[in-house]
Amino acid sequence: MKYNIALVPGDGIGPEIIADAKEVLEKVGEKFGHEFVFTEYDAGGCAIDKYGIPLPQETIDGCLASDSVMLGAVGGPKWDDMPNHLRPEKALLALRKEMGLYTNLRPAKIQPALKDACVLRQDIAERGFDLMIVRELTGGIYFGERGRNEEGDAAYDTESYSVMEIERNARNAFEIARKRNCHVTSVEKSNVLETSRLWKETVHRLHDEEYPDVKLDDMYVDNAAMQIVRDPSFFDVIVTSNMFGDILSDEASQVTGSIGLLASASLGDSKRGMYEPIHGSAPDIAGTGLANPIATILSAAMMLRYSFSLSDEAECIENAVAKVLEEGWRTKDIAAPDDENWLTGSQMKDKILEAI
Ligand code: IPM
Ligand code: MG
Repeated sequence: MKYNIALVPGDGIGPEIIADAKEVLEKVGEKFGHEFVFTEYDAGGCAIDKYGIPLPQETIDGCLASDSVMLGAVGGPKWDDMPNHLRPEKALLALRKEMGLYTNLRPAKIQPALKDACVLRQDIAERGFDLMIVRELTGGIYFGERGRNEEGDAAYDTESYSVMEIERNARNAFEIARKRNCHVTSVEKSNVLETSRLWKETVHRLHDEEYPDVKLDDMYVDNAAMQIVRDPSFFDVIVTSNMFGDILSDEASQVTGSIGLLASASLGDSKRGMYEPIHGSAPDIAGTGLANPIATILSAAMMLRYSFSLSDEAECIENAVAKVLEEGWRTKDIAAPDDENWLTGSQMKDKILEAI
């Protein structure tokens, strides 16, 4: 089969990790007899430099015409003082919205080979964990009205959710839970926020009507943050809002050892998705070889699974990553402090290519 993939490398370490993921996809294509055709588009700071705006129409059109999108990361200090509508991050948010990608899947799993790198108590790390954060992605405070008063000495951002927005995301969470351990934890702050009360009501109604076979519990976001560092094996699927999901997914990733390991998939009503590492553009380490390409390579695996239904091919990548880690190869972020044999990102990618 032939698949058209839009690549949006972005800024900072984005271009290097996307180049690594592209090579991995090419290798998998060769091995399984698929043709992946790549087209690159600008978004973020690089687009601001080139076109004066963070998300050119050409990028939106190219992504919408593709079978799926892989994104590196956007942003950097160079563009930090841009007005809100011209910030690089705007590109990412607008692309998610334009593509209708309302659900963000962020798996956080401890790699057996990396139990030592886990910051949790050793007996809990030993037990391991495998959780899936299902984050609402095109609503909530990220997209609500915001502004400042005339004097400029007060500001506001608005959190708002409709039943439809909550329901379509929760539906994905229940569906995913059915393929895993059939347990959903709905994370909100219903002891304070009205949007969270609507969230909780909606999730429960959907559960009672359509998913009574799935175990459902509720947790306030502050308790969930605590539970992730106390014992994340409590969780199977977490379903939560845009902002809570943003925060909890960074927390969960650090607990696995490094944010450089975690992939994500953004999905909507069609098979077309956007796949990106959950980490940022890390401009301070761009070009130094320190960036870990694993999160992006695992995002490519998610693309094969969710957008192209190529699960054997996805597993092939995941197994190659696990094997290389099992053999003891490490990038700097996951190497022990006294380990001087760590690999650069590109060397890590070469090891993964060998293992495919
Ligand atoms: C993420 C990032 C983005 C987000 C930023 C860069 C806008 O932190 O994908 O988690 O907050 O969604
Ligand atoms: Mg984030």
